[in-house]
Amino acid sequence: MEKFLDLLIAEVSAAFAAAGYDAACGKVTVSNRPDLCQFQCNGAMPAAKTAHKAPILIAKDVVEKLQQSALFSSAEAVNPGFINLKITESALASHLNELQQLEHLGVTEQGSGRRVVLDYGGPNVAKPLHIGHLRSAIIGESIKRIYRYFGDTVVGDIHMGDWGLQMGLIIAELQERKPELCYFDEAYEGEYPAEPPFTISELEEIYPTASAKSKVDEAFAAKAHEATYHLQNHKRGYFALWQHIMTVSVADLKRNYNNLNVSFDVWLGESDAEKDIAPMLQRLEEQGILTDSEGAKVIEVAEEGDKKELPPCILVKSDGATLYATTDLATIVQRIRDYNPDKLLYLTDKRQSLHFEQVFRAAKKSGIVPDAVQLQHIGFGTMNGKDGKPFKTRSGGVMRLETLIADITGYVEAKILENQILSPEEAAETAKIIAVGALKYGDLSNLATKDYIFDVERFAAFEGNTGPYLLYTIVRIKSILSRYGKEAVGTIQPADSESALALQLVLSQMPDQMSMAYRDSAPNVVCAYAYELAGAVNKFYHETRILTEPDEEKQKGYIALISLAKRALEECIDLLGFSAPDRM
Ligand code: ARG
Repeated sequence: MEKFLDLLIAEVSAAFAAAGYDAACGKVTVSNRPDLCQFQCNGAMPAAKTAHKAPILIAKDVVEKLQQSALFSSAEAVNPGFINLKITESALASHLNELQQLEHLGVTEQGSGRRVVLDYGGPNVAKPLHIGHLRSAIIGESIKRIYRYFGDTVVGDIHMGDWGLQMGLIIAELQERKPELCYFDEAYEGEYPAEPPFTISELEEIYPTASAKSKVDEAFAAKAHEATYHLQNHKRGYFALWQHIMTVSVADLKRNYNNLNVSFDVWLGESDAEKDIAPMLQRLEEQGILTDSEGAKVIEVAEEGDKKELPPCILVKSDGATLYATTDLATIVQRIRDYNPDKLLYLTDKRQSLHFEQVFRAAKKSGIVPDAVQLQHIGFGTMNGKDGKPFKTRSGGVMRLETLIADITGYVEAKILENQILSPEEAAETAKIIAVGALKYGDLSNLATKDYIFDVERFAAFEGNTGPYLLYTIVRIKSILSRYGKEAVGTIQPADSESALALQLVLSQMPDQMSMAYRDSAPNVVCAYAYELAGAVNKFYHETRILTEPDEEKQKGYIALISLAKRALEECIDLLGFSAPDRM
């Protein structure tokens, strides 16, 4: 279905042509002076250059052609050549009535049907999931939903850090604590127990202890490195322990992500790249692009015209160890083979930008990635505390995701209980839903690349530019609809007030706004749109007697309008990865 703005553009372009000017000048935009008009066209200025005529005269010619238009109730030429446009209420209402019939409210046609691999989450197994990984999960989940909304096929891969030194640290620490375990017995040839020798809480304690110890105890650090080496060479007992660590941790991760309404299609990790590393290195060697540099093997990635110096991408260290870039490059080999994607998108902290630039260049230079495939890294900023420094617990430790969610949930629950609408049980359940909305909206409403300040009170406020405000607006509409009681099947009527007109205009802009969010992989655009829409709904609600309207047809029209607004808001929050309760 054609977007409302495109209808207007077509009409004005035709008027330019009919008046003898270039139709391409008929571009219409939403007015930046809503007090004067709703839409505007500035095409008379460029048209003046070829027509050798004053812009205002051209604007007047065009405006004359628009007088008969069914779309515009007024078209005015103003100095030096602007065309100010107001649409007819009936054209807008009938457009919305068409839109209402469509799945996704008209946001359908723009998708290019890409195949995309989305790499987000990226937790490091056995280290507690902390807020450093929160943003990647939240932003990634939303981008995945936006892409799918536009018809892309997206594979979301969590890409766990599951093969590094942290594993060696845990194994070394376990060996010190429980040397009698069969995993450490070189002579043991039997089956290893199915039960893991630790719980998740033990595991979460073991890692930080071991990590701290390795910093002060050199012998222990050496042991951990050795254990990592043996694990990576599949030493039997260590590998069995690693599998236990994975089982216990993945179950915990799934529970955590589930609470956040975040999900992944595949649960692969760095360890899965291992089998592709040797053949990849061999191929690169044969191609002659893997060069020796002080004992290490590297791919030179600097290019002529680079503005900053790009160091070579190191794939094998002089001691034979492979690195983060090696697993990432091998993972690309696997992704191209398994999914034949059009695009690979990565979401991490912006401090990894250089890493991805090197890996991407190596991938293109070597032909691991065909030229047509798009490689993109979105590097986001950090979530800071109110002091502007990376977020910490009150005692100064790294904040665990679970604690963070529990904090917001508790805060929201207390607020709901104050309202005294819900029973304590319902309040507890509802608080969980709202807390996720508060947290996600607080994050997603910022431009991803910027740092932002995490502030429970601000994020969880029921008023202002927050997730709970959107939810509150949806709940408000739900409540009107349920009090209305009848099925909302009417058609939207031409606006009979400023606030109805404003709401209808905002609704007509949804496809454009969502397209922008899709084009720029930018959930913040969805947030800004939803916030504007919620504002328009609330203004309309305050200025309109909906339930007491005596004219039944009129009332049906209002109900149809707020029903459409509810759908639009629900689609927006779904794209952001949260949902609304029935009451709050
Ligand atoms: N585990 C990494 C970290 O915590 C993030 C992984 C991101 N994805 C990737 N393919 N490198 O920093």
